[in-house]
Amino acid sequence: MTMAPGSVDSSAMRRTMGRFATGVAVITTEFNGVPHGMTVNSLTSVSLDPPMLLVCFNHGARSAEAVSAAGRFAVNILSSRQQAIALRFAQRGENHFAGLGLEYDGHRVPVVPRALAHLDCDVDRIVEAGDHTVVFGAVREVCSREGEALGFFRGNFSSIVPHGSDPEHWFF
Ligand SMILES: Cc1cc2nc3c(=O)[nH]c(=O)nc-3n(C[C@H](O)[C@H](O)[C@H](O)COP(=O)(O)O)c2cc1C
Repeated sequence: MTMAPGSVDSSAMRRTMGRFATGVAVITTEFNGVPHGMTVNSLTSVSLDPPMLLVCFNHGARSAEAVSAAGRFAVNILSSRQQAIALRFAQRGENHFAGLGLEYDGHRVPVVPRALAHLDCDVDRIVEAGDHTVVFGAVREVCSREGEALGFFRGNFSSIVPHGSDPEHWFF
């Protein structure tokens, strides 16, 4: 289906970009001793050398303010078993860490235990774009584990099924 130019409202944009399947991550940080966390799927790798990524935060997301105030954050890439964690960190105004306990596991901010991967970042720059704040993170440390990723497609959590076990030629 095509639409007339200029008729792309926010729900059309959301619905259409929902066709672009992603993983799911939780951005965690800590400011003034208070932990913060927020579920995102706008995570994008930006640069390999130097290693850099970006995350887009909706204006009003409290975690974005905490990330910019702290100047550092961790990306926790969720496994297929962590949908409940994704939902927990997508709730507004909650103490997201309540009952979870704070685990640092050698990281500079609290992290989500048993995530598929962790990337420790320093805030490199912040760019305002439309109704979102784009935070670029300079990646300082990474670690990952084996497992299946949690996916997000057309507004629903989903599975990500690898096609074959050989990475594509450009991957390495
Ligand atoms: C799968 C999924 C992906 C999400 N991705 C984003 C995102 O990329 N950026 C964003 O601002 N909010 C995203 N959200 C919504 C936030 O998680 C939600 O608004 C959260 O309550 C914000 O928390 P805070 O205001 O306490 O920081 C996503 C939610 C879900 C369930």
